[in-house]
Amino acid sequence: MVFDVTKLKGADISTEFCGVKLQSPFVLSSGPLSYAAEGLIRAHQAGAGAVVTKTIRLSAAINPVNHIAKINGDSLINCEKWADSKAEVWFEREIPLAKAAGAVVIASVGHTLPEAEALVKDCEKAGADFIELVSYTEDTLIPMLRAAKERVSIPVICKLSGNWPDPVGTARKCLEIGADAISAIDSLGPTLKIDIRNARPTMFSKDGYGWLSGGAIRPISLRINSEIARNGCRNLIGIGGVTCAEDAVEYLMVGAGVIGLHSIAILKGVEYFSKLCKDTAILLDQLGYHSISSAVGVALPNFPKQERMARLEFHYQPDSAPRCSNCGRCVAACSYDARSLDFPVMKVDQDLCRSCGLCVSVCPTGALTATIVDVQGLPHDMQEGDDEHAG
Ligand SMILES: Cc1cc2nc3c(=O)[nH]c(=O)nc-3n(C[C@H](O)[C@H](O)[C@H](O)COP(=O)(O)O)c2cc1C
Repeated sequence: MVFDVTKLKGADISTEFCGVKLQSPFVLSSGPLSYAAEGLIRAHQAGAGAVVTKTIRLSAAINPVNHIAKINGDSLINCEKWADSKAEVWFEREIPLAKAAGAVVIASVGHTLPEAEALVKDCEKAGADFIELVSYTEDTLIPMLRAAKERVSIPVICKLSGNWPDPVGTARKCLEIGADAISAIDSLGPTLKIDIRNARPTMFSKDGYGWLSGGAIRPISLRINSEIARNGCRNLIGIGGVTCAEDAVEYLMVGAGVIGLHSIAILKGVEYFSKLCKDTAILLDQLGYHSISSAVGVALPNFPKQERMARLEFHYQPDSAPRCSNCGRCVAACSYDARSLDFPVMKVDQDLCRSCGLCVSVCPTGALTATIVDVQGLPHDMQEGDDEHAG
């Protein structure tokens, strides 16, 4: 079934990226769902604004068995390699078929300079709208970018890894050299999962390690994306751990105008793109944004320049909507035993409360809220620089 993004209630979620119109800001990132034209077309028909091919290399990959496993509810570990079909198949079949079906196609090319030199032109000839370069190190990515820019006229995206020491600096270098856009980030690692029934690593890679993706990596990626955007990057694809409309809006607000995802589409099925489109249109509208561009980067001016000294003033409504469900999570979450609830009476011991904010954050209904009240001066004996070891 083809999902019609133009008929959604709420904000207009169509957008533009490097001059190319996208039906939604959601992109199917490179991974097993983009194994061939069929997967790319399914994502496009479910509402993806663009689709990234599995990474094309000079040789086809052979993957070990057990190369993807679930971790917690929304994350994955994988030791999957690049595309398991030959480059010619991508040029002759997969890219042309996906284009013929109306998809905006991003050809992912890795991982070395000779491969970029050999492959990017044929991706463009096959009809790709963008090239996305992916490599293992910054030292390889920069020459690949130069080679691609010499050979193609379609926009070139550099995909960054959160494993690199300075992805923000790498983004700056790529943009200076002529990258049209940045995408960040790739899966993180190496990481490990143990199969406790067989007492061995779950992944069958040569060292038993794999790469982490999904919800677990979102806060890391979000921070990296916010820094890349604050450094002035305007064409940014934020990737990592998007599971719902709220996550997508976080990426938009830190300056990523396009949002890549893969793990959640594996876990929920590729049709999940339709739900993300629907929910995001409604959520943006509720938040007062009527287009994607009006929400992009709105959180950036609100990043603090220094630590804020404040305390929380709590508001609790047991009876009017949103009502307290008497679940007791706010009481249980208080490390200082400052809060008690004898429904409908809630008490807070102000001498014990440290205004950490967790009680409000765990309230499932929104019946417990707080106002931030600024205070003068530093509490206790805190001195400048004491936040170095925060966390
Ligand atoms: C099983 C699997 C295979 C992947 N293969 C590739 C790949 O071939 N090329 C690539 O650039 N990224 C690959 N990725 C990384 C994703 O494109 C994406 O950057 C990462 O998973 C973070 O997004 P997510 O948390 O939404 O999954 C893969 C991810 C998964 C889970």
